[in-house]
Amino acid sequence: MLDDIRKVLFHESTILSRLDELAHELTTDYRGKDLTVIAILNGSFVFMADLLRRVPLPLQVDCLSVSSYHGTQTTGLVNFRQNGVADLRNRHVLLLDDILDSGHTLHAIRERLCGGEDAPGGCGALSFRTCVLLRKNVERAREVDADYVAFDIPNEFVVGYGLDYNENYRNLPFVGVLTEAAILRGMRAVEPTHSP
Ligand code: IMP
Ligand code: MG
Repeated sequence: MLDDIRKVLFHESTILSRLDELAHELTTDYRGKDLTVIAILNGSFVFMADLLRRVPLPLQVDCLSVSSYHGTQTTGLVNFRQNGVADLRNRHVLLLDDILDSGHTLHAIRERLCGGEDAPGGCGALSFRTCVLLRKNVERAREVDADYVAFDIPNEFVVGYGLDYNENYRNLPFVGVLTEAAILRGMRAVEPTHSP
């Protein structure tokens, strides 16, 4: 698996010390507030575990499972894998995701949970903010931004620390970029096979 990595963008130690800072910020901002953290699966499972263990506040955690990527391209369609969501009435909501790219995912989730940016009261939540590990420097298809960002990155496809390429590489402890050979191998693996 390590042979497939062309370069490491953020080593584990770099990520963890940045999470110390981010957790400190969240602890200050949410002290004394009823907080519900909603983590977007699968990509944010490592980020969620490392970040929330650094926030010494009472809080509730819920997970939402969605998918939108196919290979290294966003499809623009966000699939929700479940129907029910937590009761957010009178709660301060913090949405956690691995990466903000086109913005389709965060936009769709916000709509689904609370009826859009202009109507945070739609679900009865007291506030609604978003926190991402990575924010890609791209022009977004949707007008969304994150309130808390661990790292800004250039427009490159990255894997590791929860992020996948066709569901692989999520367990790498760092964030890195794949070799061309690994990307091509992944493309061939998911190509539909045609019978003669
Ligand atoms: P968006 O909907 O385009 O903002 O993308 C958000 C989702 O796409 C993330 O939750 C990831 O699952 C996936 N994604 C976007 N960029 C990357 C990447 O560089 N590597 C792996 N997954 C990505
Ligand atoms: Mg993904």
